[in-house]
Amino acid sequence: MTENYRVVAVNGSPHEGFGNTSQMLTMLGENLSREGLELEEIFLSQYQIGFCTGCATCLESGSCWVRDDYNSVARTVLEADAVILASPVYIFNVTAQMKTFLDRSLGYGHRPRGDWKPGLALSVSGGHGETWAADYLGQVLRLFGAFPVGKFTAIAVGPGEFLGREAVEARAADLARDLARAVKEGRRYPPTDQDLRYWQFMSNLIKENRDFMAADYEHWQELGLFKSFEAYVGQTRSKAAMGEIPAKASRKHQQEAPQTEANPGTESHSGEPNTARELLAMMPGALNPAEAQGFTATYQFDISGSENFTAHLVIADGQATFHEGAADHPSITIKTPAEVWLAIARQELDGTTAFLGGQFRIQGDLSLLIKMKTLFIT
Ligand SMILES: Cc1cc2nc3c(=O)[nH]c(=O)nc-3n(C[C@H](O)[C@H](O)[C@H](O)COP(=O)(O)O)c2cc1C
Repeated sequence: MTENYRVVAVNGSPHEGFGNTSQMLTMLGENLSREGLELEEIFLSQYQIGFCTGCATCLESGSCWVRDDYNSVARTVLEADAVILASPVYIFNVTAQMKTFLDRSLGYGHRPRGDWKPGLALSVSGGHGETWAADYLGQVLRLFGAFPVGKFTAIAVGPGEFLGREAVEARAADLARDLARAVKEGRRYPPTDQDLRYWQFMSNLIKENRDFMAADYEHWQELGLFKSFEAYVGQTRSKAAMGEIPAKASRKHQQEAPQTEANPGTESHSGEPNTARELLAMMPGALNPAEAQGFTATYQFDISGSENFTAHLVIADGQATFHEGAADHPSITIKTPAEVWLAIARQELDGTTAFLGGQFRIQGDLSLLIKMKTLFIT
């Protein structure tokens, strides 16, 4: 028995059912139905959807108070297995109908649902602006926590007069197959730099305005989205791709080493550090030898907050050693409250976000901070 998968296409063209946008959706729909997916087209121009008034109530209370057709259309989209945002180009961009619908969806942009359903961005023009509009719609999909499996664009010089119709039809077949596979196999696409920037921006914004953006804050807390970029995109980092990382060997080496000032053995009984000092002292044991090979640097830590001390790690000859006090010539100095560094190590706080948000500061070479992500195994 085949499952019934539903793809919902939001069409911003006023040419309902016969326009070029609809014709491209029909091409997709025919191919999707062969794959067992049903395409439902929503013509925005058939609905009463008023402009967003910018009241931002949706960020505070979680829904839009305006009583028109917006909420029922949004519900249909949210319940779909995949979403297509489709619009012709009107003056270099999407139509006003599409833009109004997207503006009214602000709350969903702030509160991505975390299921990352697949989607498609579609646009057609008379010869200028369709790739731009499709890029925009693709970005909007990502902002709402969906991922576009591709962009479907065409130029039509008149109604139904596509340039290179065969190529357009072939593209529709390819994209429909990709979309069907993404839906049926629960496929995910790799996260992008756009996702990362959006997550950094939005998590900061919502935390800083938590009173006003109460619904957003609660949503991010509930889904654990503040915790890390991995949590936000719902994907975990893989260690297998590099082969087996010899973390155990590295730790064993540390355990066998004599307990000197450089290796004070301050690890707590559980193996988890309780203090920033314990954490730093344990870091040599987490060194990734593959990354440390041929790499030399001195990382100094000026710890403040609940602890107050300076220590440094020397990385040389494929090994790391811990030392109390300041270094003679640190390559980088990280000035951080103990709580912040511990939260980053426990993956309760994303290091990049903390840095960009000014929760800790550095002096020296920024690239060495970035290198830490791979230099130590978490
Ligand atoms: C108000 C308006 C503005 C338009 N602006 C552009 C434009 O900036 N660039 C372009 O190439 N085509 C433009 N077009 C042409 C449409 O994008 C083109 O005819 C498209 O195929 C219409 O799709 P539809 O039949 O699905 O509505 C415009 C059309 C209208 C009515």
